[in-house]
Amino acid sequence: AEFDLVIRGGTVATATDTFKSDIGIRDGRIAALGLGLDGGNMTIDATGKFVLPGGIETHCHIAQESATGAMTADDYYSGSVSAAFGGNSTIVPFAAQHRGQTIKDVIRTYDDRAAPNSVLDYSYHLIVSDPTEEVLREELPMAFERGITSFKVFMTYDKMIVSDEHMLDILVTARGNGALTMVHAENNALIKWMVSRLIARGYDAPKYHAVSHPAAAEVEAIQRGITLASFVEAPLLFVHVSTDAGARAIAEARMSGQMIFGETCPQYMFLTADNLDLPGAEGTKFCCSPPLRDTATQDVLWRHLNAGTLQLYSSDHAPYRFDETGKLSNGPNPPFNKVANGMPGIELRAPLLFSEGVAKGRISLNTFVALTATNAARLFGMNERKGSIAIGMDADIAIWDPDKKTQVTASGMHDNMDYTPFEGMELTGWPVTVLNRGNIIVDGGELKAERGAGDFIKRQPFDATGFLPTRAPEMTPATNFCAKLF
Ligand code: URP
Ligand code: ZN
Ligand code: ZN
Ligand code: ZN
Repeated sequence: AEFDLVIRGGTVATATDTFKSDIGIRDGRIAALGLGLDGGNMTIDATGKFVLPGGIETHCHIAQESATGAMTADDYYSGSVSAAFGGNSTIVPFAAQHRGQTIKDVIRTYDDRAAPNSVLDYSYHLIVSDPTEEVLREELPMAFERGITSFKVFMTYDKMIVSDEHMLDILVTARGNGALTMVHAENNALIKWMVSRLIARGYDAPKYHAVSHPAAAEVEAIQRGITLASFVEAPLLFVHVSTDAGARAIAEARMSGQMIFGETCPQYMFLTADNLDLPGAEGTKFCCSPPLRDTATQDVLWRHLNAGTLQLYSSDHAPYRFDETGKLSNGPNPPFNKVANGMPGIELRAPLLFSEGVAKGRISLNTFVALTATNAARLFGMNERKGSIAIGMDADIAIWDPDKKTQVTASGMHDNMDYTPFEGMELTGWPVTVLNRGNIIVDGGELKAERGAGDFIKRQPFDATGFLPTRAPEMTPATNFCAKLF
């Protein structure tokens, strides 16, 4: 047969176009687009369905130790399976360096965790917490050669934080290698000051987690991050942006031509801090950082997504169970500052955006594709292969039934969690068939993929096309001095 598989009768959408087309797939790639294709060994009838690029989930914590040592509930099998059921074809979790570890060891550890287990294609962002001379000069370039072209740093958490000086080192090293730096931006000192005052006065219930991480902590760190990155003309991506003022700082920097990018997450769009105020320890299920905000913030995040301030929409899946292995590892009623931060959501990321966004007319289907796949492929150097539907690209495809109704339950999820923060929500639209490189991974509610079927994706350098030089005057080549500093 001419094709291994033909998807017939669907409506195809990319980040720019929506059109009726069949898709012919051969050797894992899209080989033909057009009407009336046949000659497939197999055929999928997509009549009445949307045929979209498979999602690319680029912010998820899988088989990762937190700063305090707690292991996430999902490994690369359950994490990738859950991602697949939620319409994703590719995941990019983190490979986290803890202090004292070499990058070489970190990458080896995560290769061992991912390669035998992931059902989807994968890569990692490298978290850098210990930027020694050796790491900066030899190990980060080595990771980059390996196709790991994004590095992440934390401006908060005592065990992960990098100083502003180290952040400049990492930004310059990343820039020199063509890598993109990502950052968790919150002011550590401000948060610690709030935490100690709250705890000292006996305010230790989960709802005070949100109080202890005020919007100002995020806004200050975003402003500082923009200042540092722009000073050395390095690209910087702010993950999990949760405040209007933070997003506006990003929008302003972008309007000034700076290489600044932003991401937000479903929890900030579909939940509020009111969820923290539940009886007993229930509120710990909703402890994440930055914290949940309010309904006014939800409204402005939609605007920032549509305006292009924020290019990415990711789950920040950080699964810690509601038991002694996770949220309750410090007792059945832990003070808010002793609760593992994070919540699950890798499977619901795209369905939530489809239901609340596309089905309710808040975003176009094309913006949905951009936010769930195309923009991530571009920012993280995978767009030669992934993130769109075009001849020659990987046949990473999610076939969505736009009318399917689902009520969210924890037991309906395929992760290794015992709760979902989105319990009870009624969703319209669901990805019923998911392909990775032409292989059917999920179909009709069943897993079809084998453990370890996913490939490591060697990523390309960050593409800075279209950004004009913005380097600070003191650092411009005209002085012929900056070369000595970089
Ligand atoms: O609360 C969160 N988001 N936990 C995961 C770790 C991080 O900060 O990204
Ligand atoms: Zn972490
Ligand atoms: Zn974070
Ligand atoms: Zn995270």
